[in-house]
Formats: sequence, structure tokens, C-alpha cells
Amino acid sequence: MPQQGRSPILELQAITKAFGGVEALRGVDFTLYPGEIHGLVGENGAGKSTLMKIIAGVHPEFSGRLLLDGHETRFRSARDARAAGIAMVHQELSVAPDLTVAENVFLGAQPTNRFGFVQWRRMAREAGEQLARFGINVDPMSRLGDLPIGLQQLIEIARVLFSRARIIILDEPTSALSPPEIERLFATLQRLLARADLSAKLAEAARRFEGDRSLDETCRLIEEAAVH
Ligand SMILES: Nc1ncnc2c1ncn2[C@@H]1O[C@H](COP(=O)(O)OP(=O)(O)O)[C@@H](O)[C@H]1O
Ligand SMILES: [Mg+2]
Repeated sequence: MPQQGRSPILELQAITKAFGGVEALRGVDFTLYPGEIHGLVGENGAGKSTLMKIIAGVHPEFSGRLLLDGHETRFRSARDARAAGIAMVHQELSVAPDLTVAENVFLGAQPTNRFGFVQWRRMAREAGEQLARFGINVDPMSRLGDLPIGLQQLIEIARVLFSRARIIILDEPTSALSPPEIERLFATLQRLLARADLSAKLAEAARRFEGDRSLDETCRLIEEAAVH
């Protein structure tokens, strides 16, 4: 959907990616404007995760062009992509179960005082506030691994949603969530859309397609571009 007077935040042109002899993506084009949510739809193995991982710097090797704010970019790693404002929640949980909820929310970005010490109380308070905004009421000092999987997944998603990323990629975020948790996630994504600088991108398995339709401003059948 062309948007007058605005430039795309991200453009993918003719992306092709093979793993050994298996071609996961062939000639995929994709454009993302600020303030959009996209849902990627396709059956298992269609190449959804592969495309998202290319955007997030996980797969540095591919052919085609990736343009960020109109400039061709090559991420060498996920860290590179994160530095450029792209955050991804993977299909497989990547939380740290032995750390507290608060530590997970602030993973890699813990608040420190001027002597370099982690400000535990401030971290717990801010984590609790952020999660409450997301509708999650949980003791920030509890061990993450002791919580139900759905809640762990929500906390991981919340961490990324409240990071300063400009592009947020969620790979099958609802797979471990209950219907009320899914509602809460969608409501939060809609609220975030009000922030003009944020674009979100959401991937869903085909079996959830009907239920998710309301969220998608654009749905693309990536299947068409993939080789099975
Ligand atoms: N790291 C990998 N190594 C080898 N093959 C892979 C790898 N990741 C994905 N593939 C293959 O690429 C294709 C697309 O997979 P994927 O992107 O995970 O699909 P989807 O997320 O749509 O289910 C599949 O055939 C899958 O087996
Ligand atoms: Mg996948």
C-alpha cells in the first residue's frame, strides 16, 4: 500500500536464501512504512522465520537488497541489526529462566548508578511498571523459569515492545498464549501504533490466520514467494 509523502523505513528487494540445496526464499520483495503492522502468513516451512531472521541480522548471507531508511545495509549479526533499531522475538523462547523477571525485562540494559552498580530497586520498580502497563501483574523479583510458559513468552515480548527498537519482529508470538493473553498482546500492539516512530511486524502461522485478521493492516502470502 503506497503511502504518499512518507518514505519506507525498510525495503527488501528480490531476497533469495538457500540452506544448502533447499531454497527457503526466492525473489521476495517487502516494504514497511512507519506505523504499519504486517502479518506474514504461510504454512510451515514457507520461509516466514527465514525472512524475519534476514531482517534481524541472524542470517547475514543472502542475495538481494535490504534498505533501511533508503540506504542499502548489510547486517553482519543480530547485534548489528539491534544497533540499527531492529528487535526480534524468536519462535523459540530466548529468556533466561534462572534470572528474575526484572533482569529479563532489562536484559543487557540494566540501569546502573554512576559507580557502575546495578540499581536493583529501580530496575524492579521500572520492570513492574512496564509489565503492569502491558497488563501483566507479577512480582518482578520472581525467578522467570518458575512462571507458566505463556507468561514467560509475554514477558519476553513486553521486553522487546518496550525497547527503543523502531522495527519489532515477533515470530509466532501467540503460539504459547491463552486467548485473553492474545487479546492483551494485540491491544498493546495497537497502542504502540500510536507512536509515530514505531513499525511492528507480526508473523503468524496460517492456522491462526482467521483470528488474527483484524490486526493485520496488510497480509501477505509469502507462500507464493517460497519454494517448498
Ligand atoms: N538454519 C536452517 N538450516 C537449514 N534449513 C533451514 C534452516 N532454517 C530454515 N530452513 C529451511 O528453510 C525452509 C523455510 O523454513 P522457515 O523459514 O523456518 O519456515 P516457516 O517459518 O515459514 O515455517 C524450510 O524448508 C526449512 O527446513
Ligand atoms: Mg517459523
